[in-house]
Amino acid sequence: MKNETVHNLTLPKIGFGTWKIGGESSPNPKTDSVSLSALHSALELGYTHIDTAETYAAGHAEELIGQAVRETRIKRESLFITSKVAPEHLAYDRVIRSCEASLRRLQMDYLDLYLIHWPSAGMKPEGTFWALNQLVKDGKVKHLGVSNFDVKLLRQAQALSATPIITNQVPYSISDRPYVKNGVLEYCQQNNILLTAYSPVNQGNFRATKTLQSIAQAHSATPHQIALAWLVQQPRVITIPMSFNPIHIKENREAADIVLSDEEMKQLN
Ligand SMILES: NC(=O)c1ccc[n+]([C@@H]2O[C@H](COP(=O)([O-])OP(=O)(O)OC[C@H]3O[C@@H](n4cnc5c(N)ncnc54)[C@H](OP(=O)(O)O)[C@@H]3O)[C@@H](O)[C@H]2O)c1
Repeated sequence: MKNETVHNLTLPKIGFGTWKIGGESSPNPKTDSVSLSALHSALELGYTHIDTAETYAAGHAEELIGQAVRETRIKRESLFITSKVAPEHLAYDRVIRSCEASLRRLQMDYLDLYLIHWPSAGMKPEGTFWALNQLVKDGKVKHLGVSNFDVKLLRQAQALSATPIITNQVPYSISDRPYVKNGVLEYCQQNNILLTAYSPVNQGNFRATKTLQSIAQAHSATPHQIALAWLVQQPRVITIPMSFNPIHIKENREAADIVLSDEEMKQLN
């Protein structure tokens, strides 16, 4: 698995997303067995970066991740767990409480990475970053980042946080590139910040173009794998595709090993 390193932290190019694990906006226990089976597949195939959020299935995704990690007996230190605080919880006390609740649901002592899920119009960023940095001092969080931030908000976050902002998690796929257009990708690449691409296969609504299909054929790969390989061949870009299907989970992880030629990258760009 290829990696990216920023601020002495090395992260795999491809991790596992968990939106819809355990339900959508509320828990759906009927999907527990399919969710646990997807998490087991991911952990057993060697995914180490697991991305979640307090809002995913209203916290139930975190409960199932904790359960799957305990069941597979994988050492906590070999994993990199990201969670996110919701935009309605950005006041100082709420940030602290949200993080503690995520840790309780995961049954873990610390998060590797804690992100502001979305900026909020009413947020007082000084208090939010004070709380996030306090969590780092208390050992409850190792690294900090943001999500869905434009360049202006990203600069403000960097100025307010004593702990480096290691990532901005934003939508990015071969068919949807808003954070290229608004300059965020270039800013991240020039400022030692990872761009974590979410919805990297466009939430399953991804259509393979002829170019994608012919490059996929040349690599004996699927168009989805080429779309992921194209993403992670870009400097400072990592990604977190989600799937319930064990074949897709395996293919997505293996996409990091595909090497596209300069000509293929040019065609896909
Ligand atoms: N920060 C944020 O605001 C934010 C927002 C959205 C998402 N995220 C994070 O990013 C993760 C990924 O994004 P996402 O879940 O929105 O979308 P995604 O990963 O682009 O797409 C997931 C969908 O694509 C299908 N899929 C995945 N791999 C495939 C493959 N190799 N071949 C064919 N189909 C495939 C899956 O279906 P199958 O189950 O059938 O494989 C699933 O329906 C989320 O799970 C979450 O952790 C963050």
